[in-house]
Amino acid sequence: MHLLIPAAGRGSRMGADVNKLLLPLLGRPLLAWTLAAAAKAPSTGWIGIIGQPIDEEAIRLLVEKLGLRVPVQWIEGGETRQQSVYRGLLALPADAQQVLIHDGARCLASPALFERCGAALAEIPAIVAAVPVKDTIKQVYPHSHRVEKTIARERLWAAQTPQGGNVGTLKVAHAWAAAQAVAVTDDAALCELRGEPVQVVPGEETNLKITTPADLFVAEAILKTQLRQDPS
Ligand code: CTP
Ligand code: MG
Repeated sequence: MHLLIPAAGRGSRMGADVNKLLLPLLGRPLLAWTLAAAAKAPSTGWIGIIGQPIDEEAIRLLVEKLGLRVPVQWIEGGETRQQSVYRGLLALPADAQQVLIHDGARCLASPALFERCGAALAEIPAIVAAVPVKDTIKQVYPHSHRVEKTIARERLWAAQTPQGGNVGTLKVAHAWAAAQAVAVTDDAALCELRGEPVQVVPGEETNLKITTPADLFVAEAILKTQLRQDPS
């Protein structure tokens, strides 16, 4: 399986002076945990890291230190996540049939989740890891903040990554979105807009996207537990 890791953000909500993916988490950069888990999944055969030129040296160094068993390619990212992913898709080796896309900022995804998503892609054209929503969700008017309604929760799932699908279909969807100036926050949404079927794969409650400083504390606690269960 080919895997793309978007890592070309700035991490502005983290408020640090470097890309949040380079911040230390239990002694190594956040992105190193993401890559180590991805490479541990037996089905992962190739990893493309999409980053900004300013981070290239630091990322190359951390990849070198990890000594991953799979080939890793550097890909220059774009202004938005969507543009970064599109660049990643265009940089895939010609023989790539299917691809998983996993945010660098989701450093707690387990190797088993990558396996589950990879296996699902063998059966289904496009997938997204997701978990059932636990909170009650209110729809609220933008300025007054008055509640309009409560959305029934039974059918709501919170999308995570990995997401993925057929490389050709995803490239067409991204080219279409770029031409129409359609902006989406994830890759499954592009497939949905194109009328392509997308299937949910059970994600993991612990598969947080590290966004703010508080997430770092939670992530450390989860990582410690994961390390106790699988110290390798
Ligand atoms: N990403 C990317 N290219 C961009 C923007 C984001 O590859 N131009 C990546 C991030 O590095 C991250 C993932 O997309 O791994 C999810 O984005 P997000 O959590 O929003 O990260 P940032 O954009 O870095 O954070 P912020 O929005 O707070 O600036
Ligand atoms: Mg962002």
